[in-house]
Amino acid sequence: MDSLFLLLLLFSFVSADHDAFIGVNVGTGLSDMPNPTQVVALLKAQQIRNVRLYDSDRAMLLALANTGIHVTVSVPNDQLLGIGQSNATAANWVFHNILAHVPATNITSISVGSEILTALPNAAPILVSELKFIHSALVASNLDSQIKVSTAHSSSIILDSFPPSQAFFNRSWDPVMVPLLSFLQSTDSYLMLNVYPYYDYMRSNNVIPLDYALFRPLNPNKEAVDSNTLLHYTNVFDAVVDAAYFAMSYLNFTNIPIIVTESGWPSKGDSSEPDATIDNANTYNSNLIRHVLNNTGTPKHPGVAVSTYIYELYNEDSIPGSLSEKNWGLFDANGVPIYILLLTGSGNVLADDTTNQTYCVVRDTADLKMVQAALDWACGPGKVDCSPLLQGKPCYEPNGVAAHATYAFDTYYHQMAFTEGSCDFNGVATVTTTDPSHGTCVFPGSRGRNNTFINGTVLAPSSNSTTSKCSSRYLNRADNLLKLVMAGIALCCAMLL
Ligand SMILES: *[C@@H]1O[C@H](CO)[C@@H](O)[C@H](O)[C@H]1NC(C)=O
Ligand SMILES: *[C@@H]1O[C@H](CO)[C@@H](O)[C@H](O)[C@H]1NC(C)=O
Ligand SMILES: *[C@@H]1O[C@H](CO)[C@@H](O)[C@H](O)[C@H]1NC(C)=O
Ligand SMILES: *[C@@H]1O[C@H](CO)[C@@H](O)[C@H](O)[C@H]1NC(C)=O
Ligand SMILES: *[C@@H]1O[C@H](CO)[C@@H](O)[C@H](O)[C@H]1NC(C)=O
Ligand SMILES: *[C@@H]1O[C@H](CO)[C@@H](O)[C@H](O)[C@H]1NC(C)=O
Ligand SMILES: *[C@@H]1O[C@H](CO)[C@@H](O)[C@H](O)[C@H]1NC(C)=O
Ligand SMILES: *[C@@H]1O[C@H](CO)[C@@H](O)[C@H](O)[C@H]1NC(C)=O
Ligand SMILES: *[C@@H]1O[C@H](CO)[C@@H](O)[C@H](O)[C@H]1NC(C)=O
Repeated sequence: MDSLFLLLLLFSFVSADHDAFIGVNVGTGLSDMPNPTQVVALLKAQQIRNVRLYDSDRAMLLALANTGIHVTVSVPNDQLLGIGQSNATAANWVFHNILAHVPATNITSISVGSEILTALPNAAPILVSELKFIHSALVASNLDSQIKVSTAHSSSIILDSFPPSQAFFNRSWDPVMVPLLSFLQSTDSYLMLNVYPYYDYMRSNNVIPLDYALFRPLNPNKEAVDSNTLLHYTNVFDAVVDAAYFAMSYLNFTNIPIIVTESGWPSKGDSSEPDATIDNANTYNSNLIRHVLNNTGTPKHPGVAVSTYIYELYNEDSIPGSLSEKNWGLFDANGVPIYILLLTGSGNVLADDTTNQTYCVVRDTADLKMVQAALDWACGPGKVDCSPLLQGKPCYEPNGVAAHATYAFDTYYHQMAFTEGSCDFNGVATVTTTDPSHGTCVFPGSRGRNNTFINGTVLAPSSNSTTSKCSSRYLNRADNLLKLVMAGIALCCAMLL
């Protein structure tokens, strides 16, 4: 009883009475920025219901009216000093930028400045009073319960962030953080935090494993354990969010929820950023979205929503800095996805979850021996009907391990209905959106006109196809792997018996 009571106490923290959402940041650093109507059309098509703007652009807020989309507007850093001078300047800003748009535009929060403590420390002394001025103006219009006021922080203000239980905010900022947290607590607002496992990983000099940053499954003995709390951390994101909870409780604030205002992964980088790849960006964002929408919470507060805005909607070619800076987007300026998120089973936010339009192919860099072994497995125990790879059949040419394996992998991936892990094959396979079909060889899932195989039924293993399934003629190499092949065939035939 006692320990149950303790547990209840522990988890009675921020109530989990609402579901976490996924939103998207709408940056405007594009040389050919789509107009607000086009932006909103993309948001609607992708079923994105939460956005964060970096300003309070009038045309954008008008375009968002009557869409049902929830909007976080921002006071840009360069307007902070002007707006934050007094109740009057803040009230004036609220009048023109908020009152002018609600309720048609559903503004749910105001993010006052971005990473002020680290990016614009000169403005730090007025930060809390500015939040209070803006809040006062909202109170005066009876909008304070609907619109929350906060300010987005860089996670770099959290020091000693691992183990999370020992984390604390840089003490230099106590004079700002203590009144800020007090304000957030008394107004039922939340801590806004930017969480970038990409940078944590990059700066860690390989101390942080890539898999840990990308939410990929870790070998249990590689999981990070907080020795004080014995909580297990399976990803950097959770560890950073928990570090923020602990840093707040270190200052005696234990009931302020967290919203992650920015998180993401770049899909392209220069030679010093080898992990800024499409694959990694897709893996990170897909896993992040699934993690958030699942209401998984963190080890410290399981089930407590940590809503998150992806950084960000568009690739921004006019952002200065390294190549990766320009490549955090989910879409290009035309609204074409940079990559197709893998969101099976996580609901319908981001409708570019066209998982059904993906294919499983051999990785360019894969070791061919491993590819051959995986091919053997797919055509054997994996129960893929590899008869189209036989000599004289449509997918025999080009007659090579990689081409044949791609066909087998893709068939398996579709047979398994795209489930997680069904396009891996010990790391030699990867998901693509490019249809690998060629000539008369039509791949499962192909949307081509030649859709013989499109609905998969043709390729589903048939109990009548014993002969071709257990034939080894599609195997183009009969070398030292023969044993493995034979083992696979034996298994395959045993299963058919
Ligand atoms: C700002 O306005 C609020 C509410 O009207 C008031 O309580 C507060 O004292 C004012 N602050 C200043 C600095 O005038
Ligand atoms: C704005 O969003 C909130 C939260 O979903 C909802 O309760 C409210 O009705 C919305 N307001 C309008 C005007 O759509
Ligand atoms: C803490 O913040 C101060 C003031 O910005 C800064 O000078 C110092 O480097 C920070 N400490 C660490 C460890 O980041
Ligand atoms: C937090 O609360 C404890 C117990 O009331 C107190 O001893 C401590 O000084 C407080 N810490 C801060 C930073 O206020
Ligand atoms: C979803 O949440 C459950 C528990 O609530 C957890 O076991 C599972 O691992 C979570 N899945 C993801 C993808 O986070
Ligand atoms: C994707 O395929 C699954 C199962 O084959 C189906 O239930 C789902 O409706 C498809 N989704 C789309 C967007 O076609
Ligand atoms: C598929 O394409 C090939 C040539 O491209 C053609 O000969 C064949 O008839 C097509 N099959 C179907 C079902 O359209
Ligand atoms: C599969 O394809 C066949 C032949 O084109 C068609 O008759 C059947 O309706 C399709 N099944 C589904 C589920 O699309
Ligand atoms: C297996 O073959 C028999 C005889 O040709 C046929 O009647 C039956 O429908 C086939 N079964 C399947 C699953 O294709």
